[in-house]
Amino acid sequence: MGDTVYLNGAFLPLAQATIPVLDRGFMFGDGVYEVIPVYNGQAFRLDEHIQRLQASLAAVRIRNPLTTVAWRAMLLQLIAENKALQDQSLYLQVTRGVAPRDQAFPPASVAPTVFAMSMTLQTPSTALVQSGVAAITALDIRWDRCNIKAISLLANVLLRQQAVDEAVAETIMLREGWLTEGSSTNVFVVAQDKLLAPPKSQHMLTGVTYDVILELAASHGIAHLVAPVSEAQLRSADEIWITSSTKEILAIISLDGQSVGQGQPGPLFQRMYALYQDFKNQYMRHTR
Ligand SMILES: Cc1ncc(COP(=O)(O)O)c(C=O)c1O
Repeated sequence: MGDTVYLNGAFLPLAQATIPVLDRGFMFGDGVYEVIPVYNGQAFRLDEHIQRLQASLAAVRIRNPLTTVAWRAMLLQLIAENKALQDQSLYLQVTRGVAPRDQAFPPASVAPTVFAMSMTLQTPSTALVQSGVAAITALDIRWDRCNIKAISLLANVLLRQQAVDEAVAETIMLREGWLTEGSSTNVFVVAQDKLLAPPKSQHMLTGVTYDVILELAASHGIAHLVAPVSEAQLRSADEIWITSSTKEILAIISLDGQSVGQGQPGPLFQRMYALYQDFKNQYMRHTR
């Protein structure tokens, strides 16, 4: 955990960063957030994360408190302040601000609360990448606006805990018989040598990593199809992958106790994992 955080315009030690209990983030989970990986001091896909933040803010009608230039400058300073951490995971959140407890929006004069911190980026170990991980499925009990990166994550918390309770890495969700995503990841499936991805919708978060994977598939001639994935396709898949900014890409080798494919990370996973690492290194490791 980096010691210096950002709160409402100031950089300060974490221990001194406090907010009033009437903050609407605390009262209602009324806010949005982002998680941005930083490799070797370089923020990965920073513009895309800032764009998604803007989309989340607009979707919940919270005034964007900073310009794009100011977001970039603040995050780059946060990275510099925490440069003792080799690779970082930036967390930032914006809430609707502090106001007497009433669900209706507060007056426009109430300023959003802006908080950002840096943690050590923990990408999966080589051993985990090589072995793959297990997952379970569950009904998607979340709301109809999952494309918004909202801080109100109670359903995700319960779903993620289900995975922890069953000693697996992720809970993969199904809504009316269709794959949506994991509790904190997007999900890809491989069937008959083709990569399948559920289309962007209000039932899943558009992952920045999801976009990178599809771009890499397109630029390297990997057959892929963006189309709804049924429960039957998920259960009979040759490969299943989960992706996120901090997990990068991981292979699921067992789903609800049943082996996926050969029960080990498949050939397309190996290929995409290498492409992802190359892509990342090409852009991230060129400066120091
Ligand atoms: C529900 C959910 N889906 C997908 C993702 C993956 O998004 P990204 O690749 O931008 O990290 C996340 C990331 O935290 C998530 O919480």
